[in-house]
Amino acid sequence: MKYGFFEDAKREYVITNPKTPVKWTNYVGTLAFGGIVDHTGGSLICKGDPALNRIVKYMPQLPSSEFKGEGMYIRIKQPDGYKIFSPFFVPTLDHYDKYECHVGLGYQRIVSEFYGIRTDVTIFVPPGENVVVRDIKVTNLGDELVELDVVPVVEFTHFDALKQYTNADWVPQTMTVDAEKNADGTVLLRQYAFMKKQYENNFFTSNVPVDSFETDRKVFLGDNEYGTWANPLELQEDHLSNIEARRGDTIAALLHKLGEVAPGETKRIVTQLGQDEPAKVTETSKKFRSLEAVDAAFAELGAFWDEYLSKNWIETPDAAFNSMVNIHNPRQCHTTMNWSRYLSLYQLGLGARGIGFRDSSQDVMGVLAGAPDEAKALMRRLISVQLPNGSAMHQFFPLTMEANEGDSREEGDKQWYGDDHLWIVQAVSAYVKETGDYAFLDEEITFYSKELPLAEREKGTVLEHLRRALEFTRTHTGKQGLPLLGFADWNDTVNLHGDAESVMIASLYGRALLEMIDLMEFLGDKTSARAYRANHAHMKKVVNEVAWDGEWYARYFEEDGTPIGSKENSEGQIYTNAQSWTVFSGFADEDRALQALESVNSKLNTPCGIKLSWPGYDGFDPAKGGVTTYPPGAKENGGIFLHSNPWVMIAETMVGNGDRAFQYYNQINPAAQNDTIERFECEPYCYPQNILGDEHPQFGLARNSWLSGTSSWTYQAAVKHILGLMPCHQGLEVNPCIPAEWDGFKATRKFRGTTYNIEVKNPDHVSKGVVSVTIDGEAIEGNVLPVFTDGKAHSTEVVMGVMVEEEQSQESQKMVLAEG
Ligand code: GLC
Repeated sequence: MKYGFFEDAKREYVITNPKTPVKWTNYVGTLAFGGIVDHTGGSLICKGDPALNRIVKYMPQLPSSEFKGEGMYIRIKQPDGYKIFSPFFVPTLDHYDKYECHVGLGYQRIVSEFYGIRTDVTIFVPPGENVVVRDIKVTNLGDELVELDVVPVVEFTHFDALKQYTNADWVPQTMTVDAEKNADGTVLLRQYAFMKKQYENNFFTSNVPVDSFETDRKVFLGDNEYGTWANPLELQEDHLSNIEARRGDTIAALLHKLGEVAPGETKRIVTQLGQDEPAKVTETSKKFRSLEAVDAAFAELGAFWDEYLSKNWIETPDAAFNSMVNIHNPRQCHTTMNWSRYLSLYQLGLGARGIGFRDSSQDVMGVLAGAPDEAKALMRRLISVQLPNGSAMHQFFPLTMEANEGDSREEGDKQWYGDDHLWIVQAVSAYVKETGDYAFLDEEITFYSKELPLAEREKGTVLEHLRRALEFTRTHTGKQGLPLLGFADWNDTVNLHGDAESVMIASLYGRALLEMIDLMEFLGDKTSARAYRANHAHMKKVVNEVAWDGEWYARYFEEDGTPIGSKENSEGQIYTNAQSWTVFSGFADEDRALQALESVNSKLNTPCGIKLSWPGYDGFDPAKGGVTTYPPGAKENGGIFLHSNPWVMIAETMVGNGDRAFQYYNQINPAAQNDTIERFECEPYCYPQNILGDEHPQFGLARNSWLSGTSSWTYQAAVKHILGLMPCHQGLEVNPCIPAEWDGFKATRKFRGTTYNIEVKNPDHVSKGVVSVTIDGEAIEGNVLPVFTDGKAHSTEVVMGVMVEEEQSQESQKMVLAEG
């Protein structure tokens, strides 16, 4: 690869060329405390809320060569002054002999060699702590003594991130830094905006004596800031000014004089950037001055990921697939679950966008095996912003739990999204199938109200919340009999006016009903199962009567009955989601499923992924809304909106087409982008949200990496549907749908306390079909692995092959999830 390589043994991607097409990032810590670290050491850190409690000033829109948030200088004493460089390449941009950014699980490690000095810096947030640690090791690679100074620097922001950019008098007048010099020579710098003095202080400190410090950017850069980050003039002085800033652009720079470093000698410094209550800062800052504490915290971080990833480990004939499924995709799932769409280099965490109901409901489905408790905690919060009528608030703010309706609308438009509430049904169902924690269904959670205080709000069990979600959709249908769109559905940007209707919502509803039928049957509530089955049959009939367009399903109907996503339209003729979801919901019977998926393949597929729709709308049209604000081929307007691709993979597995499901998987696997990375531009170790489609001149260009529903769904498509390791109420179902050429695969799956060592054999080279299953050498009936209570590992052999006719028809019945 031009910019780096995967090192699976260490669960890292290693960037070896810092001049990546855009900044490639990694996450440290969590939303509780943490943020982004880019591959040249810049960082954007916040605590609890990126909009309201931000610590570091990181401006993504500045050129890649600029200092952003946090950096570090090393200076080598020379007879006539100092040679200054940054071991992170940016912002000094010196020639390097080696540059490696190891993108690790919850840490970023940058190893570089400049001018005979090796610097090795590991950046991470110790689990559960409110501090970023930078563990710095500097080695003299030369054969002569060198006199070295190390100067780590942070630039602070006002805690109210947006204010930092909207006022340049009030903000700087409030920004203050105090310094405390400790007896051992270490220095603690405390930064706060004046009114926060008694509430929360940011702090920056290190574990070794400090010669001097700087807190005022203007003094550090020098020459009235005609000095630059590439060459801060104060670094030519022997000492920094020791000014405690009382206004301005505040920074924290600590000058450490390491003295003479012998050939081969390594010196280690640990810095901490954190936040705490004022009275606690001094004590907190002591913790990671201890190198033992730093090492122990780093080991603890590794142990967290060991445990998280151990729930599912696979070995297939495809290395890029293994790398994504074992490491990078589940890791991204944890990141999206944690950060929602709050903070990335593309979603800047400044505005009114909180945690999305729809987004997080899908995100939790990606972490159920590894982090069930975190998933449950997030689901509780989501359910608490569901309204008594069953619909949901569109988003909430984690610090206050205030919720709102999302984007502002034109007068007369609906205040709700037609789909939000349906996603939580799938999430809860998947959670209980994974964990067996059926008690969660009985837990009481309040419904949301803007007016009533928490104590006075109506309460209902989780199951009641799910029932009301389904009821809302059942009772909000339009003239065609399909569910009303509301302001929009999953596709935020198609905003039709009046009583428009949505085929995707009908299908989401159908899928949610299937989950509920399954659950009710398992719980023995036959009456409810019967009622939900009738609702499913009814909606299936409506969809097939009104939305089948000849070769595919239409996507929407305007209030006057005009279809959208139909051959009748000149633009937006076919939409992917109307095909994948009608299959996923069991609405499309086999003929239509195959036909609809064929249409996706012939009209929407490209070598870079499946487009969301085609042809793109060419010109703004207020009757359709946001989708027409993009040129054809971008984002939701005929772009490859990646989130929708795994749904097609899932649909393909449901019709037994393992080769095509895997083709669709592979064509968007970022780890398989070796040859196209120059065009793709984004990180090869995580999914982006969007790739420009083939109607756009920059076809193949990816943007909005990391925080996308693509992550959860691609993981689910890979594990549950392609590999076919599907949790169900009775146990773990094994029903792979793989490329026919595979000889099989191996998997270790930890499920409800049992470890299954699974070997799938495919001697006849079929895509789908299980002919025998043995556990510990004994054959079992069917393909559902039972839950054991002995806490032991059980070896399981699954043989795929061509099924005899009777078995096959049972199987295909299950596949199309007929309502019986
Ligand atoms: C963004 C939103 C998501 C929406 C999608 C399609 O990813 O976060 O909620 O479904 O766009 O419009």
